[in-house]
Amino acid sequence: MAQFIQLTEQRQQTIVDELLAGLTAARASTSPKYLYDALGSKLFEAICELPEYYPTRTEAGIFQKHGPEIAQAVGTGSTLIDLGAGNCAKAAQLFPSLQPAQYAAIDISVEFLRDAVGRLQQQFPAIDMLGVGMDFSTSLALPDNVRDENRLFFYPGSSIGNFTPDEALVFLQQVKAACTHDGVSDGGLLIGVDLLKEKSLLDAAYDDALGVTASFNLNLLLHLNHLLGADFDVRAWRHRGFFNAALSRIEMHLEAASDQTVHWSNGERHFARGERIHTENSYKYTRQGFVELLARAGFENVTVWSDPQLWFMVCHAHAG
Ligand code: AVJ
Repeated sequence: MAQFIQLTEQRQQTIVDELLAGLTAARASTSPKYLYDALGSKLFEAICELPEYYPTRTEAGIFQKHGPEIAQAVGTGSTLIDLGAGNCAKAAQLFPSLQPAQYAAIDISVEFLRDAVGRLQQQFPAIDMLGVGMDFSTSLALPDNVRDENRLFFYPGSSIGNFTPDEALVFLQQVKAACTHDGVSDGGLLIGVDLLKEKSLLDAAYDDALGVTASFNLNLLLHLNHLLGADFDVRAWRHRGFFNAALSRIEMHLEAASDQTVHWSNGERHFARGERIHTENSYKYTRQGFVELLARAGFENVTVWSDPQLWFMVCHAHAG
């Protein structure tokens, strides 16, 4: 039987304080993690099916085409630690070739993992499985029953792009530290990274014709209404999603379509027409830039696989 552990369920008050601090700042912002309530997670799955949103299918194509080489670089018998596991589908595809000794699925909510990990455990009874609910973006301190030998951190989908490059470096340093036990580093990291490309392709991927990304972004307002007891009127806001070339990042914002005052339990804020709430950044890297970041974090022996158009890359790096 797979085990499930919920670490640090974030306190409701902490969530509210963090959100209100962001919403009342001169330049309003919210953390991208609030895009993923139940409906937001479904809208993100729909985004992955869009013709304009190339990352998911391009990454899947790389794993398909280079699967045997990737398996050879990684080796078998690792402790596979899936960061942001969700439905665990991407990791499950690697099981036959990687034959991990243990699989630890990490996600912010252990409830989301229960079904997926339970089903996988039946399919692969020989692999020791574990579901862990924790927000790994703030700390990578894993529970004791995650094996410390030969850890392979799996971080697909280019979620690393939600960190600024400085934050990404700190995060990668934490991953490297988590591969170190009794003074030796073993294991490593298998990560998907979205690459810098022509602005028109990036703009379309984050502002699609069907308006699914717009719905995903606007749904944040419904989530805020629920979390804060707020009265955001979704029809009074517009989605903005575009590539900021100077900062090499996609920015998503919600823009007030009219002057309005939004209320919540113990406060309010006026938004002038055109004023924005910054809801997400998604940094795009060059191959060289990201490989350098891995080296600065202490990783060695980096191997890179890409698609023929060089839109996305999968990197494997050794911790020692
Ligand atoms: C899940 C963070 C990788 O940045 O491409 C998709 C989220 N936002 N469309 C990304 C997202 C808008 C996605 N990540």
